[in-house]
Formats: sequence, C-alpha cells, structure tokens
Amino acid sequence: MGWSITSCNQASTSDVMLKDYGAEPTVINIDAYTMSNSNFRTALWTGVNLQSTLMSIPVGGDVGLEKHPTIDQFLRIEEGTAQVVMGDTETSLTFVKTAGKDFAIFVPAGKWHNIINTGNKPLKLYSIYSPVQHPFGTIHETQEEAEEAEEAEHQHLFNKNENFMTQELIQLSYATNALEPAISRQTIDFHHGKHLQAYVNNLKNLIQGTEFANADLETIVKESNGAIFNNAGQILNHNLYFTQFSPTGGGKPSGRLAQAIDAAWGSFENFQKEFEAAGVGLFGSGWVWLAADRDGKLTITKESNAGNPLTKGLKPVLTFDVWEHAYYLDFQNRRADQLKSLWSIIDWKAVENRY
Ligand SMILES: [Fe+2]
Repeated sequence: MGWSITSCNQASTSDVMLKDYGAEPTVINIDAYTMSNSNFRTALWTGVNLQSTLMSIPVGGDVGLEKHPTIDQFLRIEEGTAQVVMGDTETSLTFVKTAGKDFAIFVPAGKWHNIINTGNKPLKLYSIYSPVQHPFGTIHETQEEAEEAEEAEHQHLFNKNENFMTQELIQLSYATNALEPAISRQTIDFHHGKHLQAYVNNLKNLIQGTEFANADLETIVKESNGAIFNNAGQILNHNLYFTQFSPTGGGKPSGRLAQAIDAAWGSFENFQKEFEAAGVGLFGSGWVWLAADRDGKLTITKESNAGNPLTKGLKPVLTFDVWEHAYYLDFQNRRADQLKSLWSIIDWKAVENRY
C-alpha cells in the first residue's frame, strides 16, 4: 500500500472560518461557507490561476452589470432566487434565465452579465474565476464598496495627455542620428520609421468597429488580447522607449526615483547590473521594465513579446527593448553591449516624470 494516513479530520459544517485561504491545500464545506457569508463579496481562495469568492446579494440587489474581457466565470447558487441575464453589449442582454438553489451559472469571457436577486431573502452564491480577478484577501461588505474598489483597480496609471499615449506614430524629439553611437541613425530609421509605423497601421485597422475604436492606449493595453493587444502594447512600449532618450542624457536619476532605487537595490550601480542581467536573461523577444506599484515600490519585470507591466497593475517607469530589431544592425547578437550602451542616452528627467 502506498498510502499512509496519519490523521483524518473531516471538515465539519460547523467549522466555518471566513478568510482567504490563499494558494494552500483546502477542504471546506462550501455550502456552509456560502451560507455563513453576509458580505457582498468575500475572497475565499486565491491561487495562482484560479479564485473563489463568496457573495451575498441583498433583497432587491444585483451582482452588477459587468464584463470580464479575459476571465471565464462559474457561479453556484446555494440559496435564493435570481434572474440571470447575459449579452454581447450592455444594452442587448438577450439571454435571460431564472435560477435558484443548486443552479450553476457559466459566464464566458467577454459577455456582459448580471445576476439579480428576485427573491425575498439574500441570494447566497459562490463564484470561481480563472484567472484570478480580485486581490488576495478581498472583502467588500457592500456592493458600493465593491464598485469603489473596482474603480480604483481600473484607474489609469498615466494621464491620457502624456505624449507617449498617442496611437499615431510618435514624433521623436531628437534627430535620428543624435543618439549615436548608442543607437545608430539606421536603427532609428528602421525601428521608429518601419517597425513602430507598422504597429500603428495595424492597430488602426484592427480596432475599427470594435469596442476599442475610441479607447485610449492604456485602456486598450489593459483590456484587449490577441492581435489588438500585441499591436497596442508594442505602440505603448515603443512610445515609452523612444521618449526616454536624449542626446544629452546619461548620468544618474535624482530625487524620489533615486531614493526608491537605492531602497530597492542598495545603489544605482546595483540596479543597473540587475536591469542588464534581466534584459540579457530574457529568452526571445520582449522588454525589461523598471516598474512601480501603487506605493511607489520599484521592481524589475521581464515581459515577453508586447508585454507591459500595466497589465499587472504596475506603472512602467523605464524600459529596454530586447527585440533583435532594436539592436541587430548596430550590435548583431551582442545584446548585453546594446543594453550597457543605452545608459549613456537615458533622459532621467523624462523617466522621473513617469514615477
Ligand atoms: Fe522594438
């Protein structure tokens, strides 16, 4: 026998402790937990790829009309009566079903949906999302609190009027040969004039007639996927890249940014080493980023292809492009040499303004 059971404690229905169990092995009586929950939303289990939350919708209330662009959702009603509506737009909710105790509801990514309590007692349900939707440990006592928190999560990290938010081909503030020898005129001509121009053209065509037709670049990057995300991400990434250089750049950051770098890496020189190592270690095409969380704490992230730390709720501050098109004409396969040379043209004032 391969099994050795040293203890066996059956989860009792009376042992309810409402909390977020995190990515830990967990066995609970989910019916008892769902019935015990009286918050609008309580995160119960937040793993790496999946999350479960408990919800209690007051009489006359609803979950709230919403759409998760990339998240599939499962819900199960443990008590109460509800009307479930879904549709392709906010105003055409053509799918309408009544559901009650023991009913399961499956909401595909991209569908507008709402669940309305039509009964005379609180609607008790639990939900499973993949990927994770709410921060670990989330508790929203009321729907109002839930909406405020979600608004904060969706808040823009950048002002729409920043020059790097343009969806048109960004104008360079320096001559195409002004960054030599770190970046040659030929590389700028191809990188800005051909590669970035292609992303700009592609995005224009792709978003026509979609929900992103009039959206700003940050919104598109955060909420799209597939080809739209790839092209929008590459535009934002390159805009941030090209606006952080100056022929009179170089040196070190100052002020708050310098302090935060020292706090995270001990010194600017250590940070440079770590940043270069991250860029060299990134397999294939992508971007290395210095990014800040909402408290200003800095981290280095590696993103493949068109990735941008915005999608993780982090604010991009500095980036090195490690796609071969960024350096191959000047440095061939010597990516490390390109990354080292970029420090000499960094416009730290522009970078500090993003922090
Ligand atoms: Fe690039």
